[in-house]
Amino acid sequence: MEVKLDPWGSSQIEDYSKLFEEFGISRFEEILPEIEDPHPYMRRRIIFGHRDYDVVLRAMKAHRPFAVMSGFMPSGRAHFGHMMVMNEIIWHQKHGADAFVAIANMEAHAVRGISWHRCRELGINDYILSLIALGFEPTGHIYFQSENYRMRDLAFELAAETNFSEVSAIYGFSGETSIGHMESVMAQSADILHPQLPDYGGPKPVVVPVGSDQDAHMRLTRDLAYRMRKFLVEQREGYISIRGKAAGPDLIRAAADALIDSGYRIKQYSEHIDLFDGESADRIDEIIREVEVKNGEFGFIPPASIYHRFMTGLTGGKMSSSRPESHIALTEDPDEAASKIMKAITGGKQSLAEQRRYGGEPERCAVYEFLLFHLAEDDRELEELYGECRSGRQMCGSCKKIAAARIREFLREHQSARRDAVHRLKEFGLKL
Ligand code: TRP
Ligand code: SF4
Repeated sequence: MEVKLDPWGSSQIEDYSKLFEEFGISRFEEILPEIEDPHPYMRRRIIFGHRDYDVVLRAMKAHRPFAVMSGFMPSGRAHFGHMMVMNEIIWHQKHGADAFVAIANMEAHAVRGISWHRCRELGINDYILSLIALGFEPTGHIYFQSENYRMRDLAFELAAETNFSEVSAIYGFSGETSIGHMESVMAQSADILHPQLPDYGGPKPVVVPVGSDQDAHMRLTRDLAYRMRKFLVEQREGYISIRGKAAGPDLIRAAADALIDSGYRIKQYSEHIDLFDGESADRIDEIIREVEVKNGEFGFIPPASIYHRFMTGLTGGKMSSSRPESHIALTEDPDEAASKIMKAITGGKQSLAEQRRYGGEPERCAVYEFLLFHLAEDDRELEELYGECRSGRQMCGSCKKIAAARIREFLREHQSARRDAVHRLKEFGLKL
């Protein structure tokens, strides 16, 4: 097998891409050139895939409204994996997005049996304080699922359109699955769609930064967004078809009127409208969506998503909140964190002599990965380290020392910013 060498470790990305092409995830690389100042996660191909992110980029560039939304389940300590989602939310907020963050306490309670009290504690202390410390601005919205009744009302609406066979096919639910668990799935879809409610300015592109494990939720939610639409607008050969897939006669009439008012030539039938001008289907869909919203419907745009690679655990395998030795928490004692780095698995060889001779394998090294994901701002530095490691000029001991010193310093600063964030909670409508 040919191994492609690349400091961003895209040999791993290949595995992901293959997996996801089956599900229709697009390669992030393809739209990367359209982003003026990509986040390092984008530049370094840590974000490897997306759905419909071009729609979000278009809104971002045109200074039209768009939103970023993601959620955290308060079931354990927040670690560097969670921090990636936080940074992605904040990046979009800085680029003009209305930002929404759910603390998924309904999910944690129903699925993991965590008490409401503990959810609140973890939510505020581990997730929200770090989010604020990393730069989340009070113009955004942070909420606990159980307290957001706009979202919960929407969850009910979505549940009315979803049946058991469907969710059991997606999530493997059985007769034993609690209804609360199912409700928490609807809550996640409602989390993702509620930024498009009239209270927040109506339909708009929304991007959901997540790990690729959440893609099933995205597929369901995008499907639900489509299902809540009353019309389907499609380009056909020589005309645009506007089918009232769930629209009554009044709504069809309202749509026809709106199109005529905008000066289009149409032919109206009982359940659909054909339009013959050389207009783009997207523009017509926009007009139809407005008609839906004016008539009290949702008119949702399917939410977009971006997917990042997971970090490997410090001890190999997956990084997991439930195994302290596998991750470094954002609240971890900085010295303890440094010592975890010193003990982490590397891509080094058994002996120094072998390492000099054959070189190390940065793509299988948890220390290199920490530098790549979080601890090296300079791309050139990484490229150099990659080359030095591969060629056997870099030894793991000194490499670890650099990473350990950086993580110690990072955590000291982050934790001091977290202490300041305690006094800022009220700006976000929250208290300890
Ligand atoms: N299910 C997600 C997790 O396990 C948390 C979550 C809840 C979420 N609501 C969301 C993620 C909305 C993205 C968008 O981590
Ligand atoms: Fe990893 Fe550094 Fe060792 Fe290379 S030298 S395997 S990058 S710790």
